[in-house]
Amino acid sequence: MNSLVQVVSGGARLTVAVVGTGPALLLVHGFPLDRELWRPQVEGITQWTRIAPDLRGAGASESPLGGYSMARYADDLAAVLDATGTETAVCCGLSMGGYILFELLRRHPARVRALILCDTKSEADTPEGRRGRDDLAAVPRREGVAAVGERLLPKLLGRTTQATRPAVLEAARAMVLRSSVAGVAGALAAMRDRSDSTALLAGIAVPTLVLGGAEDEVTPPATMRAMAERIPGARYVEIGGAGHLAPMERPDAVMPVMGEFLKTLG
Ligand code: MLT
Repeated sequence: MNSLVQVVSGGARLTVAVVGTGPALLLVHGFPLDRELWRPQVEGITQWTRIAPDLRGAGASESPLGGYSMARYADDLAAVLDATGTETAVCCGLSMGGYILFELLRRHPARVRALILCDTKSEADTPEGRRGRDDLAAVPRREGVAAVGERLLPKLLGRTTQATRPAVLEAARAMVLRSSVAGVAGALAAMRDRSDSTALLAGIAVPTLVLGGAEDEVTPPATMRAMAERIPGARYVEIGGAGHLAPMERPDAVMPVMGEFLKTLG
């Protein structure tokens, strides 16, 4: 199968890429991005059905004006799994995608067969971080989503990528420009209000791979390593020469690590 599927969930029409056959690998993008983040994985991880949704408010999915929350996003993922006939999936999420997977674990644990947590963290926002979300949410209304990209991209991409991989920078910028004002504001509100998931980590009972960029300043290696240490049996891998978007910055390094992990799952 190699198609774009439309899934209606919670009043929004979501666009989902479904590629290949075999056991399911659900790929959940971060903020303010879309499913294109996972292009190397969608194209390169054969023998798995790659399911890559655009979250509500992102990419080609609809952008309701309000109602964004981690619970809503997690229920959307469950609806995507239902619509693609997927009972259980290896769930891979980057940053906000990881926050959503923690909520999926709370609300729909039976759907999660294994976890790949990329450049993410379990902690909730600090009070200062929450104020920053509100400040940033005002930017696209005032100046458009491009201004959000100008502020965020230098933090999201590692210094090596910024210096040597112009195509990655352009691809990331294009994703930001596909976001809607309502989607950006909604995601920021959902992240601001998310629960702390640290207490969940010790109870994660599925195989888990944690990976992150060595140059990630949003969720630095020390944060990722500490999170992995709290998850029973989790493996942590640091990706050199990559920042917060390691899977698209260094697919050459990330793909073998993911491939090896997926092989252990059969
Ligand atoms: C993301 O990449 O999804 C965001 O950087 C997450 C965040 O801002 O907390």
